Amino acid sequence: DAAEKGGYEHYMRKEIHEQPTALRQALSGRIDLDRAGVDLDLEFPQGCLESLEEIQLVACGTSYYASQYAAQLLEEVADVRATVEIASEYEFDGGRDPWRTLVIAVTQSGETADTLGAIRRAAGAGARTLAVTNTLGSSVTREADDTLFIRAGPEIGVAATKTFVSQVATLALLAVDIGRGRGTLSTADARDLLGDLRGLPGAVQQVLDEEDRVLKAAREFRDSESFFFVGRRFGYPVALEGALKLKEISYDHAEGFAAGELKHGPLALVTDKTPVLAVLTDGTRAGETMNNVTEAQTRGAPAIGAVSAGLETGSLDIGLEVPNVGIFEPLVANVYFQLFAYHVANLKGRSIDKPRNLAKSVTVE
Ligand code: AGP
Repeated sequence: DAAEKGGYEHYMRKEIHEQPTALRQALSGRIDLDRAGVDLDLEFPQGCLESLEEIQLVACGTSYYASQYAAQLLEEVADVRATVEIASEYEFDGGRDPWRTLVIAVTQSGETADTLGAIRRAAGAGARTLAVTNTLGSSVTREADDTLFIRAGPEIGVAATKTFVSQVATLALLAVDIGRGRGTLSTADARDLLGDLRGLPGAVQQVLDEEDRVLKAAREFRDSESFFFVGRRFGYPVALEGALKLKEISYDHAEGFAAGELKHGPLALVTDKTPVLAVLTDGTRAGETMNNVTEAQTRGAPAIGAVSAGLETGSLDIGLEVPNVGIFEPLVANVYFQLFAYHVANLKGRSIDKPRNLAKSVTVE
C-alpha cells in the first residue's frame, strides 16, 4: 500500500501531484502545431462534427463541473451551441434534431449509472454519442458511438483531482478539432490556444511547488464556520469544484457561487468566520469578481485569491499566483483549491481517500 502511494500519505495528494504527468499524457501525440490542429483518432462519419448544431454534455459531480468548463470552451472556441445537464436530470426530448446533436457523456469511471442512463436515452432518440472517460473497457465505452480517453492513469482517491483537469484538457482538444473542422477557429487562435494548453503542465507544477503556502493558509482557516468559493465564467465551475472537494473530504460546509450572485442572497451568510476563496485569473472577469470579493471583505470575511501573474487586484489576505496560460488559468487556480481542501482535511485527521458515505463510482440511480 505504502509503495503504491509512492511515498505520499494519501492517494489524493499523490494524484494531485501527478497532474502535470496526467496532462502531458492527455496531450501527447494529439497536437499538431504546424497545421494548428489536433488528431483525436475519432471515428465519426466524415463531416459529422462539422455539421453539428448542438452539443449536450451529461455528467455528475466533478465530471459535471469539468463539463461546465468545457461547454464554455466549445461555445467560445468552436462557436457551437453547447449545454450541460446533470445526468440524473437529463431527458432527450423537446424539438432537438437528433442527427445534428452530439451528446457527450463525461465520466471518469465510465460506470456511473446516472450518466449511463442519460447516454442511453440520447442514443435511443437517435443522437450521436461520445464517451469521454478515463477507463478502458468501461460500460460507457460500449454504450457510446465513439470514445475519447483522457489518459489520466488510475485514480484511487474517492475525491477526483487529476481527472478533472484531464477531462477539461481533452475536451479543449475536441473544441479545437470541431472549431477547425467548422472553420470557426482561425489558425492563429488555434495556435494560441494549443500553446496555452501545452503550457498547462508546467503551470500546474509551479502551483504544486507553492504547496507550503497553501498549508499555511489551511492552518490559519481550518476552524472556519463555512467556506465560500466564487468565480465568474471559467472560474464559476472551478468555484463549484473547489467547494465540492472541500466538503467531500473535510466534512466542512462549503459552497460555490457565481461571484455576481453573492449580493443576491449569500452575502447574508458572510461573517469574519467565512473565508471567501476567489478565482481571479484570465477568463473570469477578475475585476468584477474582485468587486464582489471586496463586498464580502467589507462584511469581515477573509479573502484568499488565486490571481493571474502580473494582475493587480485590491488587497487580499492571501494572494496565490497563477502562471499565465490564458483561459486555462482557472484550471491552475483549482490546484490551489485541491491542496487547500487536502490540507484542511488532513489537519482534521479525516479519512481522505475514503470519505464517509461516498464511493468512487456510483453505480445506482
Ligand atoms: C468527485 O470528487 C466525486 N467523488 C464525484 O462527484 C464524481 O465526480 C461523480 O460521482 C462522477 O463520477 P464519474 O466521473 O466516474 O462518472
